[in-house]
Amino acid sequence: MNIVIAIDGYSGTGKSSTAKQVASRLGYTYIDSGAMYRAVTYFFLKNKVDFNKEKYLDESLRKCSIAFEGSSILLNGVNVDHEIRTMEVNENVSAVSAISEVRSKLVEQQRKMGEERSVVMDGRDIGTVVFPEADLKIFMTADVDIRAERRRRELEKKGIHESIQTIRKNLEERDLLDSTREDSPLTKASDAKEIDTSHLTLNQQIDKIVALAESIIYAS
Ligand code: DC
Repeated sequence: MNIVIAIDGYSGTGKSSTAKQVASRLGYTYIDSGAMYRAVTYFFLKNKVDFNKEKYLDESLRKCSIAFEGSSILLNGVNVDHEIRTMEVNENVSAVSAISEVRSKLVEQQRKMGEERSVVMDGRDIGTVVFPEADLKIFMTADVDIRAERRRRELEKKGIHESIQTIRKNLEERDLLDSTREDSPLTKASDAKEIDTSHLTLNQQIDKIVALAESIIYAS
């Protein structure tokens, strides 16, 4: 049986690392929807698109093609895995992802990707908007200080050095913008299972979700 697993939650709760491993354990396709919003943000910044001027947006968005090649993200055919993880992108991605034209383009693409495959998709609106009928919905939370420290270590591994204060501020700002925007705000779907990852290891998070998924797969 093909099932769709939707994983939503706050920034830095470990959604992407967890979702990727859950998909690999189940033999499913992993789709990082946040990477898609990041790629559009990077495209706007690189091409100096003033994304607050709505009249040019549709035209710019038509020139912005996003695809996955394995776990890598391609922007107009070019791998931008590293470019989309900078602080500049972090600081602009919530504003870009609040734009309805951007959301409708990406949501349409995400639904197509989930149509015929068994997928694990992580993001902010996957269980509420993209796949409201998802078989399993997870909502991940964690203490903000723990999230900031995890993100700092993650960035450090990539050679990006940022202070814990800057990272924490960015996480808090993104949480606020993502939860209060008009179009598809970050919110827990009523039928989502909440997992607080503050005191869980990555493997514990993965085990919990795989167990939930298997109980659905084997029950059918
Ligand atoms: O998961 P992430 O931190 O890479 O996501 C980056 C931003 O993209 C996040 O701050 C909000 C936005 N986003 C969104 O609005 N909807 C999604 N489904 C995924 C991400």
